[in-house]
Amino acid sequence: MHLVVICGAAGGIGQPLSLLLKQSDLISHLALFDVVNAPGVAADLSHINTKSKVTGHGKEQMDEALKGAHTVVIPAGVPRKPGMTRDDLFKINAGIVRDLAEGVARNCPNAFVLVISNPVNSTVPIVCQVLKKHDVFNPSKVFGISTLDVVRASRFVSEISPAIDPSTRITVIGGHSGVTIVPLLSQLPNSFADSLSRDQLDALTHRIQYGGDEVVKAKDGAGSATLSMAYAGARFTLSLLQATVTGKTGLIESAYVHLDADKKNTAAFREKTGLEYFALDVEFGKNGVGRILELPRVSIYEQALLDVAIPELKTNIAKGASFITVSA
Ligand code: NAI
Repeated sequence: MHLVVICGAAGGIGQPLSLLLKQSDLISHLALFDVVNAPGVAADLSHINTKSKVTGHGKEQMDEALKGAHTVVIPAGVPRKPGMTRDDLFKINAGIVRDLAEGVARNCPNAFVLVISNPVNSTVPIVCQVLKKHDVFNPSKVFGISTLDVVRASRFVSEISPAIDPSTRITVIGGHSGVTIVPLLSQLPNSFADSLSRDQLDALTHRIQYGGDEVVKAKDGAGSATLSMAYAGARFTLSLLQATVTGKTGLIESAYVHLDADKKNTAAFREKTGLEYFALDVEFGKNGVGRILELPRVSIYEQALLDVAIPELKTNIAKGASFITVSA
């Protein structure tokens, strides 16, 4: 019995994400929670002839939806409009994510929690702090989904170099907004990064860091990335389920995590940077984070990106963490 709950299931991301997850036999029950229209979306999806049962839960039914969940995916909140940064969303989304994390602590303290709501750099610390407050925090079980940055990197690189297949996984580290997104293009085969001019490398890096803006601008006020995010969110969720439900090994995704999830492999990095949270490649295990892959050797260009990313990330983390007071 594996219950997966989508919080914000009736939204732009929530609906296609729920549709993609409905196709998986690893899920026996898909519970859709939203403050609007959850029963309607659930009724629609429930007619699809795959194994999972689908239930819809409205505004007052968060506890009922979350009870006993194996995995909770959170795309609830408001998306960006043109001219907004992800940090501009903090005022509204911080409270929404806090309340959902409180619900997790009450109803499914052992669940894997996958955070999509922006600003991810700050909302993940909020979830961790709430779980700490309730004494149920397990750093191996809370993830910020930064997969869309990897998806974009793979796609954009393949557009430049037809020799690189769009399914090639690219390591993207740091955080999930603007300058905190650091793609490690130097890891690509055939000296791909060295084959680019400095202007080309700058343009590609900028496109990966600000890919979300392309969508926000093109949608012209009607929201941010929803379909590509649903794809990325489903890929991440299904990968995690494969590891935790079937025990499959060798599954790696980039995720924004608390570095206590693998103290051994992150000790040196943490010592050097003072960061508590960071997006790195994670190999899933039975209990969530199996191990965090050690940071590969970065190029001089990438080190310069990291030097800009780290102070920004520290500010974002402090903003999220200080939103919740945990008594010692
Ligand atoms: P949307 O506005 O279309 O959907 C959000 C849904 O959340 C709505 O159905 C709304 O009713 C629901 N909601 C609001 N408050 C709620 C609460 N307290 N409990 C449960 N549900 C609640 O927004 P969209 O486009 O689906 O984006 C959702 C979030 O995902 C935004 O914060 C956006 O910035 C973020 N996002 C994250 C990405 C990532 O890479 N991690 C990529 C794109 C968007």
